[in-house]
Amino acid sequence: MLSKSLQNGFNDQIQKEFYSSYLYLAMAAHFESQNLSGFASWMQKQADEERSHGMRLWQHVYDRDGKVELKAIEQPPAEFGNPLEVLQKVLEHERKVTASVNALYALAEKEGDVAAQIWLQWFVNEQVEEEKIVVGLIEKLKMAAGQAFGALFMDQHVLGQRK
Ligand SMILES: [Fe+2]
Ligand SMILES: [Fe+2]
Repeated sequence: MLSKSLQNGFNDQIQKEFYSSYLYLAMAAHFESQNLSGFASWMQKQADEERSHGMRLWQHVYDRDGKVELKAIEQPPAEFGNPLEVLQKVLEHERKVTASVNALYALAEKEGDVAAQIWLQWFVNEQVEEEKIVVGLIEKLKMAAGQAFGALFMDQHVLGQRK
């Protein structure tokens, strides 16, 4: 069974994953309004993934005879700036999520909860992957610095191609 403090930690993390989903959906809406459909579709897929992360945490809470309590999700911003600025905000956000995953892992470790640590390892790896992908996109966008053609190219040929 999951301890009360770990259960709270999982519930907090579920809230963060759902907020991430909502934030990326807001970014998708922002890109749709600018006719950047490739960026918008990338963000929608990102939002779907974040929802699945929330459900993956939910799964572990119930596997361990715990209880999920859904917390309020705050309103995300509506304006995010140009594509480079948006991706920089994504990176900043993912780094915060990484810190909270790491803190949850440290709590599981402190409590000697081996099963929770193993479950959370997936999230530790996922955060490494997510930060790496976003850093790569930011570097490419910087190469296209200030050139509208570069952003349009990335919209169609990089972000728009995400499976
Ligand atoms: Fe996530
Ligand atoms: Fe994420």
